[in-house]
Amino acid sequence: TKAAAAPADSLTFTPIEGSTEDTAVVPEGYEWYSILQFGQSLSPFVSDLSDADLVAGKHLTNKGAKDQAEQFGYNNDAVEFFALPTPDSNGKNNAVICVNHEYINDNLVYPDRGSYGSTADYFMAYPTADKWARNAIGMTVAEIERKHGKWQVVKSSGFNRRITMNTPFALTGPARKNEYLQTSANPAGTRVKGTYNNCAAGGTPWGTYLSAEENTDGVFSNFAGLEAALSGSTDPKDIKLLDMHRRLQPASGSSYLGFEAFDDRFDVAKEPHEPFRFGWVCEVDPYDPGAAPRKLTALGRFKHECATTIEAANKHCVVYMGDDARFEYVYKFVSERKINKNRRRNKNLLNKGTLYVAKFNEDGTGEWMAVDYDSQEVLQTAKVEGTDIPQFDNQAEVLINARRAGDLLGATPMDRPEDVEANPVTRKVYVACTNNTKRTSGDSIAERDGRDVQQFPDIANPRPANSWGHIIEISEDGDDNTATSFTWEIFLLAGDPQSSAGRFLTQDEDLNDVDLGSEEALDRDDTYYAGFAHGDLVSPIGAPDNISFDKQGNLWIVTDGSQPTGVHNGTFAVPTEGPNRGYLRQFMSGPNDSEVCGCEFTPDNRTLLLNIQHPGDRGVLGTPNSNFPNGGSSEPRPTLIGVRRKDNKPVGR
Ligand code: FEO
Ligand code: CA
Ligand code: CA
Ligand code: CA
Repeated sequence: TKAAAAPADSLTFTPIEGSTEDTAVVPEGYEWYSILQFGQSLSPFVSDLSDADLVAGKHLTNKGAKDQAEQFGYNNDAVEFFALPTPDSNGKNNAVICVNHEYINDNLVYPDRGSYGSTADYFMAYPTADKWARNAIGMTVAEIERKHGKWQVVKSSGFNRRITMNTPFALTGPARKNEYLQTSANPAGTRVKGTYNNCAAGGTPWGTYLSAEENTDGVFSNFAGLEAALSGSTDPKDIKLLDMHRRLQPASGSSYLGFEAFDDRFDVAKEPHEPFRFGWVCEVDPYDPGAAPRKLTALGRFKHECATTIEAANKHCVVYMGDDARFEYVYKFVSERKINKNRRRNKNLLNKGTLYVAKFNEDGTGEWMAVDYDSQEVLQTAKVEGTDIPQFDNQAEVLINARRAGDLLGATPMDRPEDVEANPVTRKVYVACTNNTKRTSGDSIAERDGRDVQQFPDIANPRPANSWGHIIEISEDGDDNTATSFTWEIFLLAGDPQSSAGRFLTQDEDLNDVDLGSEEALDRDDTYYAGFAHGDLVSPIGAPDNISFDKQGNLWIVTDGSQPTGVHNGTFAVPTEGPNRGYLRQFMSGPNDSEVCGCEFTPDNRTLLLNIQHPGDRGVLGTPNSNFPNGGSSEPRPTLIGVRRKDNKPVGR
């Protein structure tokens, strides 16, 4: 009866209600199934990790660690689908997928974890555990095939491989060989061992995987030790080194992952340049199992949430990126050369081009400002605060410390920009700002992020206490994704439109009428659904994170954070054009304590791929508070699921 009040559109599924069930809830006529889950083998010669062995800690032995290098890793975040046999084939029944593994939940993988302090302390007691941990993060490349409508892994495939903390990466682009990328293990500054904290991702038009290194600061320890060692030094090199770390600062004491227990490169006082070798976008060629993955320095270094691409009308490749932290920026990269039809010729396409950072103006226009040493005088003349030391000496340093360059260029500090992605139908770009409740007086994040930020609401981030997040829509000038100017508007102010605590703003004029200059401009419970008039029809939503588009150009959103009605994270769909623009409906709900990530369609739209990350993350190994996905009393497992229509028609239609 609800849908009768709105015109028909290309989304025909029956919306679900928000749920607190410990399972994946999907609409009537749909089903979900596990494609790959933590510990599942990718090889005919290695078995799956059983619950009994997990609870007993058998995975933390030398053999368990070795097996993990051929099993699906932990906390899968992004997934991309690459058709077989070639990138431009339809991938009807065979494909390679790339999935990344962001981090580990200590409490769910380490027996008796509660008896120890830091993870490094735990590793001293269980000395082979860190070998396992190094193999449980990174990425999975695996062939999948579709049988009876469901995708499953092809264990014998030569495409299958794990990328871990031990996998060699090549550093490419303008910062390769820069002195800040040189370490005792790699004096040339050309290679890095491993990747960590890969979050969202994207695929390139020529069929490679772009995976974004996000909270890489958390794997490095002892910044306090480095500060103590260099305190009082008047050597400009020492002063600049400390400053280079300030805007993406490693942990003062022990790190979250604990790798410093046995490896000095994770102790910043001992290996001060190692953190500069993380925080990049990685490129992996899923079609070439022998190709070393690469870290692309041309795309800048920050807490990369995502790296999504679009082939611009003029054939240049544009990569959209968010820096997921409070008051950080939105970026894009435009390749210098055009995309070549011969995929091998695109190997270095993302090594040369221009990085831009976004400024959102009050009048609804915006600018992409080049993060470029040679053309930006302010980057040439800036000094390290309180000194005469140049902030940057070259473009490589600008890229390594891209956040500071964004500060100097006057980029707009955003409410945690997560996924940024262009709609392939309309070419408009959507920015998911997940939340930020710190735009109120007295809040400062100076101690954490190396600058004194006191940002009150601005027109692009209009709430002082933005608990539920918002989505911005960017229209590039001339629909040219390489343009340096754009117009923008708020597409969604998330929340619960049925809540009596807030206003449901229905028209653009309403949103524009609100005095955004005042700190009390908008309440956190005020909502706006792209002007859609029926607050009683739309689903409540909070903390938008990853986004995607179906073939019709509908926007699909998955969430990671508190929901305004207290239900679990989920999946939502909303038309971006037409009379139902803004008519957002819930499609799926996730299990206990999980975030829903991924959100990628197969090219035929018959499967929606979702990553269920950290199910049951407030439980303890052996006494789970989620049994996803295997049910019964099983341990929770981060899982890549497929969602399909039982009649095999496209999802959402
Ligand atoms: Fe890994 Fe910004 O979420
Ligand atoms: Ca995310
Ligand atoms: Ca996406
Ligand atoms: Ca998030």
